[in-house]
Amino acid sequence: MDIGIDQIGFYTPNKFVDMVDLANARNQDPNKFLIGIGQDRMAVADKTQDAVAMGINATAEYLDQVDLEQLGLLIFATESGIDQSKSASLFVKEALNLPANIRTFEIKEACFALTAALQVARDYVRAHPHHSAMIIGSDIARYGLNTAGEVTQGAGAISMLIKESPAIIALEDGHASYSENINDFWRPNGSPVAMVDGHYSRDVYLDFFKETFKEYLAQTKLTVSDFAGICYHLPYTKMGFKAHRIAIQGQDEETAKRLSDNFQLSAKYSRQVGNIYTASLYMSILSLLENGDLEAGDRIGFFSYGSGAMAEFFSGKVVDGYQRRLRPGLHKRMLQERTRLGVGQYEDIFTEGLENLPENVEFESDANHGTWFLAGQEGYVRK
Ligand code: HMG
Repeated sequence: MDIGIDQIGFYTPNKFVDMVDLANARNQDPNKFLIGIGQDRMAVADKTQDAVAMGINATAEYLDQVDLEQLGLLIFATESGIDQSKSASLFVKEALNLPANIRTFEIKEACFALTAALQVARDYVRAHPHHSAMIIGSDIARYGLNTAGEVTQGAGAISMLIKESPAIIALEDGHASYSENINDFWRPNGSPVAMVDGHYSRDVYLDFFKETFKEYLAQTKLTVSDFAGICYHLPYTKMGFKAHRIAIQGQDEETAKRLSDNFQLSAKYSRQVGNIYTASLYMSILSLLENGDLEAGDRIGFFSYGSGAMAEFFSGKVVDGYQRRLRPGLHKRMLQERTRLGVGQYEDIFTEGLENLPENVEFESDANHGTWFLAGQEGYVRK
């Protein structure tokens, strides 16, 4: 039975900072950000677009096409949680009127968490054929103003429906996992920004890529030339490009060109949005599907990495007619119609976002009509 991705919804907030503006404000050569890091813009979430609101918006995009009677599982993956106890998924469930009898919870392991959700969802569908699972990854990447990590911030969400006979990607059997307890990136309780050992995190990402990719090829007996493309977790696009360079080492010209072209297409959305932690790998898959020219049966490799650290390599095949399930026009418009913030405006929004919300507060939103947003809270209860 084929199981995989049947729907993909994407949301990113309506504001961004241009990397040339940020470089100028930080006295850096813009080419360091544009070429050295590989980012053009970074999405900025104001306080009305928290992880929950963005997750609802990504899911609302395809909800009218879901058979709710079949839905049995809803998992919310995030490292931008809004509550230490209650799952973010419950707010999504209520907002979107999802059935009361589904199993639902939040899941965490840094950026790996949406892959964890995907694998749990796949096992769930395998055990419960005819049922489907909804999985959401939603995050705001925050390192701090004037930090080395600042240029790798971002905000957004991906929501996917996982079911049998999927319309977009059929997952293949097998996966190569690798984990170690290390301190490359972490966010202790009470800290609104991530702590990171940036250069070390870069090295570990590449070590984990080599380990899982080699193991996956050995396990499946596939060769690099069997892949039409490989999508990577993209904390910033240059990071994925470094792994891509390792993947194509020693390959024939045709394979190297195909994988290189498809890498660039997979990085298009990420260049405009920045790191969205849990959802970054899945935004790169969406970017390749919506900007590329894949054929039915093409095999795509997926490298998922979550600091701390846990990595997995797995693969899937593109399903015939997948284009009909995608909404590239909607996503391109969403990216194009954003407001360009001055660096000062971004700094104000960023600083506001670090504060805990007071017991009672009300917000207005400047998002488009029909967009879900956090309207405030009353007695610490979200509205
Ligand atoms: P940095 O120290 O400011 O940058 O921090 P750098 O000095 O390493 O330079 C970056 C690149 O720009 C270098 O290229 C320079 O040569 C180049 P590279 O050697 O890497 O190929 N460069 C230039 N290029 C063109 N023109 C110029 C120029 N100047 C320099 N004029 C760093 C960079 C990524 C470390 C920092 O931004 C950071 O700490 N970011 C956050 C951590 C991160 O994203 N790590 C990635 C791996 S960990 C991960 O993916 C997990 C994560 O998503 C979290 C999770 O799992 O939840 C982060």
